[in-house]
Amino acid sequence: MQRLLMRGGVPLTGEVQVSGAKNAALPIIAATLLAPGPFRFSNVPVLMDVTTIGNLLERLGATVQREGDRLAVDTTVLHGTEAPYDLVKTMRASVLVLGPLLARMGRARVSLPGGCAIGARPINLHLAGLEKMGARVSIDHGYVEAVADGLTGARIVLDTVTVTGTENLMMAATRAAGTTVIENAAREPEIVDLANLLKAMGAEISGAGTDTITIQGGGELRPAEYRIMPDRIEAGTLAAAAAITQGDVLIRGARAEHLDAVLNKLRETGADVAVQPEGAIRVKGGRRLKSVDVRTAPYPGFPTDMQAQFMALMSISDGLSVITETIFENRFTHVAELRRMGADIKIQGTNAIIKGVSELSGAPVMATDLRASASLVLAGLAARGETEVSRVYHLDRGYESLEKKLENLGARIIRLTS
Ligand code: EPU
Repeated sequence: MQRLLMRGGVPLTGEVQVSGAKNAALPIIAATLLAPGPFRFSNVPVLMDVTTIGNLLERLGATVQREGDRLAVDTTVLHGTEAPYDLVKTMRASVLVLGPLLARMGRARVSLPGGCAIGARPINLHLAGLEKMGARVSIDHGYVEAVADGLTGARIVLDTVTVTGTENLMMAATRAAGTTVIENAAREPEIVDLANLLKAMGAEISGAGTDTITIQGGGELRPAEYRIMPDRIEAGTLAAAAAITQGDVLIRGARAEHLDAVLNKLRETGADVAVQPEGAIRVKGGRRLKSVDVRTAPYPGFPTDMQAQFMALMSISDGLSVITETIFENRFTHVAELRRMGADIKIQGTNAIIKGVSELSGAPVMATDLRASASLVLAGLAARGETEVSRVYHLDRGYESLEKKLENLGARIIRLTS
């Protein structure tokens, strides 16, 4: 079992490059199922989740080839319509093949993802939206089966903002006859990135990035070449690493405009955050962080995917802070591990009440999910002494070479493989 071993207390300094966005790459790769032919993508992060969606597409008959940050996907021939349990259980985002498969093949059978470490995470809104477009949906033996003789455009009002739900419906709508309007749509930059790929394929979409997306479906779709947007959560995590170690780091390749809520909170903590003209972000720490309250919300609010990392920061801030998680009901699993490092955190419902301590002390800790792992790494970088984070496979699902990037910034961190 691989682990990360680090000795904390080194202020990170230097420059670091952000990789492509996991949560943009996954729907974009799934979207290749919509149109037969060869697609080429660049800035594709080297991550376990990207390998998993590639494996899933191969099971469906596509060919997938990776070369560095490039990925070629050929969906000329598909011979399957099933996303099996063994793949879906390792990655919930596998559900993103549901909309495109149904739209192109007239049917899809996708294992129900089930709950996960951060919450129940149902897909009822994906299914209700597809039904509104004319699909017949049933659940049998743990699988969703969706069938349609041809989808038709519909007005779909999502009663909760859902990122992958919006993506699934937007993809399906590109092949549905007529107009689909998705209201209360997610506004995440990854939705815009997916819409841009779909437009490059010939789809007619307007409003992506707002809460109302209109898709004029039924036109011909063709393969495309596309460059994946930078990962805003990786950039935010690196910014938090600079602040928590009181370092001075230039984060290159990020799009600062995707990170307004995170950067504003960092500024409130007293970190010096400067955005350079081409989008690079410089974060300078240097003094003890001030405590700030954080409430997660759909974009453009503070991302739930940065909540755990911010909690690591607040655990050594100079006062009391309240972090409220509004998106997922169980996204506090890092709390017990941070406490093992000396953090003073109490949970009251959806609130974590954090009383900053003067320092954390290194300890063996266990990662429970992707962003929780990142939080433990941040805590370990700041803690006195040695921290060993086990189960780093969670981290590898969503951060490309994180320990190498941190090591280049001066962190004392190594991966233990036995
Ligand atoms: N929800 C429903 N019904 C649905 C769909 C969602 O009730 O049909 C609820 C969820 O239970 C949750 C809320 O709606 O309470 C929002 O969930 P959402 O559907 O937006 O989450 P997701 O699409 O499954 C994506 C990201 C997550 C990120 C969330 C929120 C991808 C592949 N995943 O998940 O990323 O936390 O949006 O921003 O885009 C991560 O990268 O670590 C990660 C978990």
